Amino acid sequence: MARLAVLTCLVCAVLAAPALALSNGLARTPPMGWNPWYRFGCGVTEGLVRQTADAMVRSGMRAAGYRYVNLDDCWMARTRSRYGTLRADPKRFPHGIPALAAYVHRRGLKLGIYAAAGSMTCAHFPGSRGHLYHDAHTFAAWHIDYVKLDGCFTSPREKGPYAYGRMRAALRSTRRPIVFSVSAWGFNRPWLWAASRAHLWRTTRDIRPGWASAMRVADANQALASYAHPGAWNDPDIMQVGNPGLSPTEGRSVMGLWSIMAAPLLAGNDLRHMSWVTRSILTNPEVIAVDQDRAGVQGRRFQSAGGRELWIRRLANGDRAIVLLNRTAGRATLTADARAIGLRPAGTYFVRNLWSHRLTTTAGPIAVVLPAHGSAMLRVHAG
Ligand code: GLA
Repeated sequence: MARLAVLTCLVCAVLAAPALALSNGLARTPPMGWNPWYRFGCGVTEGLVRQTADAMVRSGMRAAGYRYVNLDDCWMARTRSRYGTLRADPKRFPHGIPALAAYVHRRGLKLGIYAAAGSMTCAHFPGSRGHLYHDAHTFAAWHIDYVKLDGCFTSPREKGPYAYGRMRAALRSTRRPIVFSVSAWGFNRPWLWAASRAHLWRTTRDIRPGWASAMRVADANQALASYAHPGAWNDPDIMQVGNPGLSPTEGRSVMGLWSIMAAPLLAGNDLRHMSWVTRSILTNPEVIAVDQDRAGVQGRRFQSAGGRELWIRRLANGDRAIVLLNRTAGRATLTADARAIGLRPAGTYFVRNLWSHRLTTTAGPIAVVLPAHGSAMLRVHAG
Protein backbone atom coordinates (compact mmCIF):
# COMPACT_ATOMS: atom_id res chain seq x y z
CA MET A 1 0.00 0.00 0.00
CA ALA A 2 2.78 2.39 1.07
CA ARG A 3 4.68 1.51 -2.10
CA LEU A 4 1.58 2.27 -4.16
CA ALA A 5 1.22 5.66 -2.45
CA VAL A 6 4.86 6.49 -3.16
CA LEU A 7 4.44 5.44 -6.77
CA THR A 8 1.26 7.49 -7.15
CA CYS A 9 3.06 10.46 -5.67
CA LEU A 10 5.95 10.04 -8.09
CA VAL A 11 3.48 9.98 -10.97
CA CYS A 12 1.86 13.16 -9.56
CA ALA A 13 5.22 14.83 -9.30
CA VAL A 14 6.18 13.91 -12.86
CA LEU A 15 2.86 15.16 -14.19
CA ALA A 16 2.93 18.34 -12.17
CA ALA A 17 6.62 19.10 -12.61
CA PRO A 18 6.81 20.68 -16.07
CA ALA A 19 5.52 24.11 -15.18
CA LEU A 20 7.14 25.17 -18.46
CA ALA A 21 4.80 26.35 -21.13
CA LEU A 22 4.66 24.68 -24.54
CA SER A 23 7.09 27.49 -25.34
CA ASN A 24 6.68 28.01 -29.05
CA GLY A 25 6.11 31.68 -28.32
CA LEU A 26 2.37 31.59 -29.02
CA ALA A 27 -0.48 32.63 -26.73
CA ARG A 28 1.74 34.61 -24.39
CA THR A 29 -1.54 36.35 -23.59
CA PRO A 30 -4.87 34.47 -23.67
CA PRO A 31 -6.02 33.71 -27.25
CA MET A 32 -8.93 35.82 -28.53
CA GLY A 33 -11.33 34.73 -31.21
CA TRP A 34 -14.66 33.16 -32.06
CA ASN A 35 -16.13 29.67 -31.92
CA PRO A 36 -19.45 28.69 -33.54
CA TRP A 37 -20.39 25.66 -31.43
CA TYR A 38 -22.94 26.95 -28.95
CA ARG A 39 -24.64 29.30 -31.40
CA PHE A 40 -24.57 27.24 -34.60
CA GLY A 41 -23.77 23.62 -33.61
CA CYS A 42 -23.51 21.42 -36.70
CA GLY A 43 -24.91 24.19 -38.91
CA VAL A 44 -21.47 25.60 -39.63
CA THR A 45 -20.65 26.31 -43.30
CA GLU A 46 -17.85 28.03 -45.16
CA GLY A 47 -20.24 30.89 -45.91
CA LEU A 48 -20.83 31.43 -42.20
CA VAL A 49 -17.12 31.33 -41.45
CA ARG A 50 -16.30 33.80 -44.24
CA GLN A 51 -19.06 36.16 -43.17
CA THR A 52 -17.87 35.88 -39.57
CA ALA A 53 -14.32 36.78 -40.60
CA ASP A 54 -15.70 39.80 -42.47
CA ALA A 55 -17.83 40.75 -39.45
CA MET A 56 -14.84 40.43 -37.15
CA VAL A 57 -13.05 43.06 -39.22
CA ARG A 58 -16.10 45.32 -39.78
CA SER A 59 -17.27 45.29 -36.16
CA GLY A 60 -13.91 46.39 -34.77
CA MET A 61 -13.27 43.03 -33.11
CA ARG A 62 -10.07 42.47 -35.04
CA ALA A 63 -8.88 45.93 -34.06
CA ALA A 64 -9.75 45.06 -30.45
CA GLY A 65 -7.46 42.01 -30.60
CA TYR A 66 -9.65 39.08 -31.71
CA ARG A 67 -7.73 36.89 -34.18
CA TYR A 68 -8.84 33.25 -34.27
CA VAL A 69 -11.86 32.26 -36.34
CA ASN A 70 -12.35 28.66 -35.25
CA LEU A 71 -14.22 25.71 -36.63
CA ASP A 72 -15.68 23.26 -34.14
CA ASP A 73 -17.31 19.84 -34.56
CA CYS A 74 -19.10 18.87 -37.81
CA TRP A 75 -16.78 20.49 -40.35
CA MET A 76 -15.68 17.03 -41.54
CA ALA A 77 -16.99 14.53 -44.03
CA ARG A 78 -18.26 11.29 -42.46
CA THR A 79 -15.26 9.33 -43.71
CA ARG A 80 -11.57 9.86 -44.30
CA SER A 81 -10.13 9.75 -47.82
CA ARG A 82 -8.72 6.48 -49.11
CA TYR A 83 -5.34 7.70 -47.88
CA GLY A 84 -6.71 8.17 -44.40
CA THR A 85 -6.77 11.98 -44.64
CA LEU A 86 -9.52 14.02 -42.99
CA ARG A 87 -11.76 15.82 -45.48
CA ALA A 88 -14.15 18.73 -45.13
CA ASP A 89 -17.85 18.10 -45.70
CA PRO A 90 -18.10 18.72 -49.48
CA LYS A 91 -21.56 20.30 -49.24
CA ARG A 92 -20.94 22.71 -46.41
CA PHE A 93 -17.31 23.46 -47.33
CA PRO A 94 -17.32 23.11 -51.14
CA HIS A 95 -14.06 25.05 -51.56
CA GLY A 96 -12.25 23.10 -48.84
CA ILE A 97 -10.35 24.20 -45.78
CA PRO A 98 -7.16 25.55 -47.46
CA ALA A 99 -9.27 28.05 -49.45
CA LEU A 100 -11.06 29.04 -46.24
CA ALA A 101 -7.74 29.51 -44.47
CA ALA A 102 -6.54 31.75 -47.31
CA TYR A 103 -9.74 33.83 -47.07
CA VAL A 104 -9.37 34.26 -43.33
CA HIS A 105 -5.65 35.03 -43.59
CA ARG A 106 -6.27 37.70 -46.22
CA ARG A 107 -8.29 39.52 -43.57
CA GLY A 108 -5.42 39.46 -41.10
CA LEU A 109 -7.08 36.71 -39.06
CA LYS A 110 -6.22 33.10 -38.24
CA LEU A 111 -8.12 29.85 -38.72
CA GLY A 112 -8.70 27.26 -36.03
CA ILE A 113 -9.90 23.69 -36.43
CA TYR A 114 -11.37 20.91 -34.29
CA ALA A 115 -10.50 17.24 -33.90
CA ALA A 116 -11.04 14.57 -31.25
CA ALA A 117 -8.49 12.30 -29.61
CA GLY A 118 -10.66 9.16 -29.61
CA SER A 119 -12.51 7.04 -32.14
CA MET A 120 -15.04 9.76 -33.07
CA THR A 121 -15.75 13.43 -32.45
CA CYS A 122 -18.58 14.18 -30.05
CA ALA A 123 -20.94 14.51 -33.05
CA HIS A 124 -19.76 11.15 -34.46
CA PHE A 125 -17.37 12.34 -37.17
CA PRO A 126 -13.99 10.61 -37.67
CA GLY A 127 -11.77 10.71 -34.61
CA SER A 128 -8.01 11.10 -34.63
CA ARG A 129 -7.10 7.92 -32.72
CA GLY A 130 -4.26 6.32 -34.65
CA HIS A 131 -4.07 9.39 -36.93
CA LEU A 132 -2.71 12.12 -34.64
CA TYR A 133 0.49 12.58 -36.60
CA HIS A 134 -1.25 12.41 -39.97
CA ASP A 135 -3.95 14.89 -38.89
CA ALA A 136 -1.46 17.33 -37.41
CA HIS A 137 0.39 17.37 -40.73
CA THR A 138 -2.86 17.75 -42.68
CA PHE A 139 -3.78 20.76 -40.55
CA ALA A 140 -0.35 22.31 -41.00
CA ALA A 141 -0.52 21.74 -44.78
CA TRP A 142 -3.90 23.50 -44.76
CA HIS A 143 -2.31 26.48 -42.93
CA ILE A 144 -4.31 26.01 -39.76
CA ASP A 145 -3.29 28.20 -36.81
CA TYR A 146 -5.17 26.68 -33.85
CA VAL A 147 -6.21 23.12 -33.02
CA LYS A 148 -8.79 22.12 -30.40
CA LEU A 149 -8.54 18.43 -29.53
CA ASP A 150 -11.72 17.14 -27.92
CA GLY A 151 -12.17 14.17 -25.60
CA CYS A 152 -15.32 12.31 -26.70
CA PHE A 153 -15.09 8.56 -27.36
CA THR A 154 -11.74 8.32 -25.65
CA SER A 155 -10.27 5.92 -23.16
CA PRO A 156 -9.41 7.54 -19.81
CA ARG A 157 -5.79 7.63 -20.97
CA GLU A 158 -6.70 9.56 -24.10
CA LYS A 159 -8.20 12.29 -21.98
CA GLY A 160 -4.83 12.76 -20.34
CA PRO A 161 -1.20 13.67 -20.82
CA TYR A 162 -0.44 10.69 -23.03
CA ALA A 163 -2.68 11.49 -26.02
CA TYR A 164 -2.34 15.24 -25.67
CA GLY A 165 1.43 14.87 -25.38
CA ARG A 166 1.48 12.88 -28.60
CA MET A 167 -0.58 15.49 -30.40
CA ARG A 168 1.69 18.22 -29.12
CA ALA A 169 4.71 16.29 -30.47
CA ALA A 170 2.89 15.78 -33.78
CA LEU A 171 2.04 19.48 -34.05
CA ARG A 172 5.57 20.43 -33.14
CA SER A 173 6.96 18.15 -35.84
CA THR A 174 5.05 20.16 -38.47
CA ARG A 175 7.11 23.26 -37.52
CA ARG A 176 4.03 25.41 -38.08
CA PRO A 177 3.21 27.70 -35.15
CA ILE A 178 -0.14 26.31 -33.99
CA VAL A 179 -2.02 27.12 -30.79
CA PHE A 180 -3.06 23.88 -29.09
CA SER A 181 -6.21 23.66 -26.98
CA VAL A 182 -7.02 20.73 -24.68
CA SER A 183 -10.74 20.01 -24.49
CA ALA A 184 -10.97 17.25 -21.88
CA TRP A 185 -13.43 19.14 -19.64
CA GLY A 186 -11.30 19.00 -16.52
CA PHE A 187 -10.90 15.20 -16.61
CA ASN A 188 -7.52 14.04 -15.30
CA ARG A 189 -6.95 17.56 -13.93
CA PRO A 190 -5.28 19.09 -17.02
CA TRP A 191 -4.03 22.06 -14.99
CA LEU A 192 -1.44 19.62 -13.57
CA TRP A 193 -0.03 18.44 -16.89
CA ALA A 194 -1.28 20.48 -19.84
CA ALA A 195 0.92 23.57 -19.45
CA SER A 196 3.88 21.73 -20.94
CA ARG A 197 1.79 20.26 -23.75
CA ALA A 198 -0.71 22.92 -24.80
CA HIS A 199 -1.55 26.61 -24.55
CA LEU A 200 -4.97 26.28 -22.95
CA TRP A 201 -7.06 23.61 -21.32
CA ARG A 202 -10.74 23.41 -20.56
CA THR A 203 -11.30 23.29 -16.81
CA THR A 204 -14.96 22.24 -16.73
CA ARG A 205 -17.72 20.47 -18.59
CA ASP A 206 -19.46 22.43 -21.34
CA ILE A 207 -20.86 25.84 -20.56
CA ARG A 208 -24.58 26.19 -21.26
CA PRO A 209 -26.62 29.21 -22.20
CA GLY A 210 -27.52 31.39 -19.24
CA TRP A 211 -26.25 32.89 -16.04
CA ALA A 212 -26.26 29.82 -13.77
CA SER A 213 -23.92 27.91 -16.05
CA ALA A 214 -21.56 30.86 -16.48
CA MET A 215 -21.29 31.16 -12.69
CA ARG A 216 -20.72 27.41 -12.24
CA VAL A 217 -17.87 27.53 -14.72
CA ALA A 218 -16.39 30.72 -13.24
CA ASP A 219 -16.48 29.25 -9.71
CA ALA A 220 -14.49 26.20 -10.77
CA ASN A 221 -12.10 28.09 -13.01
CA GLN A 222 -11.15 30.79 -10.50
CA ALA A 223 -9.99 28.17 -8.00
CA LEU A 224 -7.27 27.12 -10.47
CA ALA A 225 -5.69 30.58 -10.74
CA SER A 226 -2.24 29.47 -9.64
CA TYR A 227 -1.83 27.16 -12.67
CA ALA A 228 -2.13 29.87 -15.35
CA HIS A 229 0.81 31.79 -16.72
CA PRO A 230 1.91 33.27 -20.07
CA GLY A 231 1.54 30.59 -22.73
CA ALA A 232 -0.63 28.36 -20.50
CA TRP A 233 -4.21 29.27 -19.64
CA ASN A 234 -7.19 27.87 -17.78
CA ASP A 235 -10.07 27.82 -20.27
CA PRO A 236 -13.55 28.29 -18.78
CA ASP A 237 -15.04 27.74 -22.27
CA ILE A 238 -16.61 29.95 -24.92
CA MET A 239 -18.35 33.11 -23.73
CA GLN A 240 -22.08 33.33 -24.25
CA VAL A 241 -22.12 37.13 -24.48
CA GLY A 242 -24.77 38.14 -27.02
CA ASN A 243 -26.40 34.70 -27.07
CA PRO A 244 -29.97 34.09 -25.90
CA GLY A 245 -30.08 33.47 -22.16
CA LEU A 246 -27.65 36.18 -21.07
CA SER A 247 -28.81 39.78 -20.59
CA PRO A 248 -26.46 42.68 -21.39
CA THR A 249 -25.91 43.18 -17.64
CA GLU A 250 -24.97 39.51 -17.28
CA GLY A 251 -22.88 39.65 -20.45
CA ARG A 252 -20.85 42.52 -18.99
CA SER A 253 -20.27 40.49 -15.83
CA VAL A 254 -19.14 37.45 -17.83
CA MET A 255 -16.74 39.53 -19.95
CA GLY A 256 -15.34 41.12 -16.77
CA LEU A 257 -14.92 37.80 -14.95
CA TRP A 258 -13.33 36.07 -17.96
CA SER A 259 -10.90 39.00 -18.22
CA ILE A 260 -10.03 39.05 -14.55
CA MET A 261 -9.39 35.28 -14.85
CA ALA A 262 -7.01 35.79 -17.82
CA ALA A 263 -9.32 33.48 -19.76
CA PRO A 264 -9.19 32.95 -23.52
CA LEU A 265 -11.77 35.36 -24.94
CA LEU A 266 -13.70 33.27 -27.45
CA ALA A 267 -16.89 34.99 -28.53
CA GLY A 268 -19.67 32.46 -29.16
CA ASN A 269 -22.36 34.65 -30.70
CA ASP A 270 -23.42 35.52 -34.24
CA LEU A 271 -20.95 38.28 -35.09
CA ARG A 272 -22.84 39.11 -38.29
CA HIS A 273 -25.88 40.37 -36.42
CA MET A 274 -24.60 41.80 -33.15
CA SER A 275 -26.43 44.49 -31.27
CA TRP A 276 -24.54 47.64 -30.46
CA VAL A 277 -24.51 46.62 -26.78
CA THR A 278 -23.01 43.18 -27.46
CA ARG A 279 -20.35 44.69 -29.65
CA SER A 280 -19.45 47.31 -27.06
CA ILE A 281 -19.14 44.59 -24.38
CA LEU A 282 -16.91 42.35 -26.51
CA THR A 283 -14.68 45.17 -27.73
CA ASN A 284 -14.25 47.22 -24.54
CA PRO A 285 -10.53 48.09 -24.80
CA GLU A 286 -9.97 48.66 -21.10
CA VAL A 287 -11.49 45.32 -20.12
CA ILE A 288 -9.54 43.54 -22.86
CA ALA A 289 -6.34 45.22 -21.63
CA VAL A 290 -6.90 43.50 -18.27
CA ASP A 291 -7.44 40.12 -19.94
CA GLN A 292 -4.33 40.61 -22.07
CA ASP A 293 -2.15 42.03 -19.29
CA ARG A 294 1.38 40.85 -20.01
CA ALA A 295 2.11 39.63 -16.48
CA GLY A 296 -0.40 36.84 -17.15
CA VAL A 297 -1.39 36.47 -13.51
CA GLN A 298 -4.88 34.98 -13.26
CA GLY A 299 -7.16 36.78 -10.83
CA ARG A 300 -9.63 35.07 -8.54
CA ARG A 301 -12.36 35.63 -6.00
CA PHE A 302 -11.09 37.01 -2.69
CA GLN A 303 -14.32 37.67 -0.79
CA SER A 304 -17.79 36.29 -0.95
CA ALA A 305 -20.67 37.02 1.41
CA GLY A 306 -24.36 36.54 0.67
CA GLY A 307 -23.89 36.67 -3.09
CA ARG A 308 -21.67 39.78 -2.96
CA GLU A 309 -18.21 39.06 -4.28
CA LEU A 310 -14.86 40.76 -4.72
CA TRP A 311 -12.48 39.42 -7.40
CA ILE A 312 -8.92 40.75 -7.73
CA ARG A 313 -6.18 40.49 -10.37
CA ARG A 314 -2.63 41.86 -10.10
CA LEU A 315 -1.48 43.67 -13.24
CA ALA A 316 1.98 44.11 -14.73
CA ASN A 317 2.34 47.78 -13.72
CA GLY A 318 1.35 47.04 -10.13
CA ASP A 319 -2.30 48.16 -10.49
CA ARG A 320 -5.08 45.89 -9.33
CA ALA A 321 -8.11 45.09 -11.47
CA ILE A 322 -11.15 44.26 -9.38
CA VAL A 323 -14.64 43.04 -10.12
CA LEU A 324 -17.42 43.66 -7.63
CA LEU A 325 -20.10 41.12 -8.51
CA ASN A 326 -23.70 41.06 -7.33
CA ARG A 327 -24.94 37.48 -7.63
CA THR A 328 -28.12 38.17 -5.67
CA ALA A 329 -31.51 38.43 -7.35
CA GLY A 330 -31.95 42.12 -6.40
CA ARG A 331 -30.22 45.47 -6.37
CA ALA A 332 -27.34 45.68 -3.88
CA THR A 333 -24.61 48.00 -2.69
CA LEU A 334 -21.17 46.43 -2.77
CA THR A 335 -18.08 47.84 -1.14
CA ALA A 336 -14.32 47.33 -1.24
CA ASP A 337 -11.36 49.14 0.24
CA ALA A 338 -8.46 50.18 -1.99
CA ARG A 339 -6.16 49.83 1.04
CA ALA A 340 -6.94 46.13 1.27
CA ILE A 341 -6.52 44.78 -2.28
CA GLY A 342 -2.77 44.32 -2.27
CA LEU A 343 -1.68 47.80 -3.39
CA ARG A 344 1.06 49.73 -1.61
CA PRO A 345 -0.23 52.18 1.04
CA ALA A 346 -1.08 55.59 -0.40
CA GLY A 347 -3.03 58.67 0.61
CA THR A 348 -5.02 58.63 -2.61
CA TYR A 349 -6.04 55.82 -4.94
CA PHE A 350 -7.11 56.38 -8.54
CA VAL A 351 -10.13 54.30 -9.51
CA ARG A 352 -10.87 53.86 -13.20
CA ASN A 353 -14.28 52.40 -13.98
CA LEU A 354 -13.65 50.17 -17.01
CA TRP A 355 -17.27 50.12 -18.15
CA SER A 356 -18.14 53.82 -17.73
CA HIS A 357 -14.55 54.94 -18.48
CA ARG A 358 -14.68 57.42 -15.57
CA LEU A 359 -11.80 58.17 -13.24
CA THR A 360 -12.36 59.00 -9.56
CA THR A 361 -10.16 59.12 -6.48
CA THR A 362 -10.61 57.71 -3.01
CA ALA A 363 -8.72 57.57 0.25
CA GLY A 364 -9.73 53.91 0.39
CA PRO A 365 -13.46 53.17 0.45
CA ILE A 366 -15.17 52.13 -2.78
CA ALA A 367 -18.93 51.60 -3.05
CA VAL A 368 -21.09 50.72 -6.04
CA VAL A 369 -24.80 50.07 -6.44
CA LEU A 370 -25.39 47.15 -8.76
CA PRO A 371 -28.45 45.52 -10.33
CA ALA A 372 -29.04 41.78 -9.94
CA HIS A 373 -26.19 39.88 -11.66
CA GLY A 374 -24.46 43.19 -12.34
CA SER A 375 -20.83 44.00 -11.74
CA ALA A 376 -18.40 46.87 -11.64
CA MET A 377 -14.94 46.39 -13.08
CA LEU A 378 -12.36 48.82 -11.75
CA ARG A 379 -8.67 49.40 -12.22
CA VAL A 380 -7.13 50.78 -9.04
CA HIS A 381 -3.80 52.56 -8.90
CA ALA A 382 -1.98 53.70 -5.75
CA GLY A 383 -1.37 57.44 -6.17
C1 GLA B 1 -17.68 18.83 -26.63
C2 GLA B 1 -16.87 20.09 -26.38
C3 GLA B 1 -17.60 21.29 -26.95
C4 GLA B 1 -17.86 21.09 -28.44
C5 GLA B 1 -18.61 19.80 -28.66
C6 GLA B 1 -18.72 19.45 -30.12
O1 GLA B 1 -18.87 18.82 -25.92
O2 GLA B 1 -16.62 20.27 -25.01
O3 GLA B 1 -16.86 22.47 -26.74
O4 GLA B 1 -16.62 21.07 -29.09
O5 GLA B 1 -17.95 18.70 -28.00
O6 GLA B 1 -19.34 18.25 -30.34
